[in-house]
Amino acid sequence: MKPDLRVSIGGLELANPVGLASGTFGYGSEYEELVDVDALGALYTKAVTLAPRTGNPVPRIVETPSGMLNSIGLANPGVEAFIAGKLPGLRGRRCAVFVNVAGATEEEYLEVLERIEAAAGTGPRAGVDGYEINLSCPNVKHGGLAFGTDAAQIERLTRALRDRTRRPIVVKLTPNVTDIAGIAKAAEAGGADAISCINTLVGMVIDVGKRRPVLAMGSGGLSGPAIRPVGVACCYRASRAVGIPVIGLGGIMSSGDALQYLLAGARAVQVGTGTFVDPRCAMGVLGGIEEWMRAQGVERIQDIPALLEV
Ligand code: FUM
Repeated sequence: MKPDLRVSIGGLELANPVGLASGTFGYGSEYEELVDVDALGALYTKAVTLAPRTGNPVPRIVETPSGMLNSIGLANPGVEAFIAGKLPGLRGRRCAVFVNVAGATEEEYLEVLERIEAAAGTGPRAGVDGYEINLSCPNVKHGGLAFGTDAAQIERLTRALRDRTRRPIVVKLTPNVTDIAGIAKAAEAGGADAISCINTLVGMVIDVGKRRPVLAMGSGGLSGPAIRPVGVACCYRASRAVGIPVIGLGGIMSSGDALQYLLAGARAVQVGTGTFVDPRCAMGVLGGIEEWMRAQGVERIQDIPALLEV
């Protein structure tokens, strides 16, 4: 029997649990020739901000043991160019599309969401099925991580966003906190439909010859297999603290990695840095999950978290 891979996020049904993480897959069209994006459960776009951003000065990427450090700085064309240039292409997508929203102030987050809501309209070909709220980018001075470490601010901003859309809201959390459970609860209290965890960990690489950090901004966000155990532990804690679904990400390169997240309590996963190693990584993850379910006799994806023995 074919396993049931469907996942529900805030009433939105995803065909399967595997998504493409924000910032690693552009707005979907970039990988068109290599990946059948619509065979996956969801696409999480690169962050969209109110004004266009060129991002941080270079170098803004450096490879690290089992991972990479990035300091992109939320480079994106801005919400109006997103609406004019990217949204039309997203309207044809069959997988769910979550637009990642970022801002330097609470007002900016609200304005971005309101403008996209107005442009997308309602109906099956809106081009946006939900929002992922970026409260965790470590590479900007204002917003992002600065908001994501403050439970009261997360709750307030999530509630304000909640009041402005009926589409599902996923709040993307940072692991750079002492109590991920408390932060997850704040998002749930504000009305989030799900949380995604984790975003990157703050890190730094120093060029000892030059005696200065490799990245122009000094530090950046660490991603890749190096952070997977941190992500799995965060999902384990967060999923026991909240009733809403947790979407796990951080270092997923294979179906075995994804299954660690699902067994830890995640209802869905995202592949990020893995795409840079193999553009078809997410497809392999999906196929492997289904194979594992057949082999283990697991009928529904939502049954996996209960299978963890601790
Ligand atoms: O710098 C960046 O654009 C990273 C964004 C993020 O980690 O959310």
